Amino acid sequence: MPKVAQYYFKTAIVFLIIGICMGLQMSIGGNHNVIGAHAHVNLLGWVTMALFGSYLAIAPAKAEGRLAMIQYYVYTAGVVIITPSLYFMLLGNEALEPLVAIGSLISFAGVLLFAYMIFSGETSASRREAAAGS
Ligand code: HEM
Ligand code: HEM
Repeated sequence: MPKVAQYYFKTAIVFLIIGICMGLQMSIGGNHNVIGAHAHVNLLGWVTMALFGSYLAIAPAKAEGRLAMIQYYVYTAGVVIITPSLYFMLLGNEALEPLVAIGSLISFAGVLLFAYMIFSGETSASRREAAAGS
């Protein structure tokens, strides 16, 4: 599996653990105030990162080069910023809202980079693989 795909799964499982802790906090405490942080840490963190990692594992040619690693760092930085800022904003610290917005825009930039990677053409290595397979 490409290194960046492994990074994605290692990061994703950390966000699942954090997301589930928030879910348990809501269930046990009986106060569902952090629902938005719980939902988005699980969905932007665990689900989306696992999808990115899965795509890169089944299309390893796309994981070559610096762009895939740059995309990982950009997207992850966005989710790392969103996670605590959204959580504490929902607990009442409204001053954190700009940080939530910045994190959202950074993770969106990561998504746009991933879209570029999906649509970008074959790399020389994938052409070599195709040629070797035929
Ligand atoms: C043991 C693990 C989990 C616990 C205890 C838990 C707990 C909760 C609780 C208490 C709520 C609030 C429900 C409400 O107020 O209507 C909630 C909402 C939500 N959870 Fe979890 N959750 C868990 C795992 C997950 C996972 C793994 C995901 C996603 C992959 C997830 C996604 C969501 C979403 C999207 C919502 C919002 C649903 C809505 O808008 O109605 N949860 N969860
Ligand atoms: C940076 C990207 C995103 C932003 C800025 C964003 C923003 C929002 C906002 C403002 C809400 C309404 C929250 C409320 O009413 O309290 C929401 C709800 C929701 N979003 Fe997102 N979202 C993003 C990404 C995603 C993704 C990628 C998914 C799914 C894979 C998702 C799934 C949901 C769900 C299930 C809800 C309803 C649960 C809740 O109330 O928190 N969102 N989102």
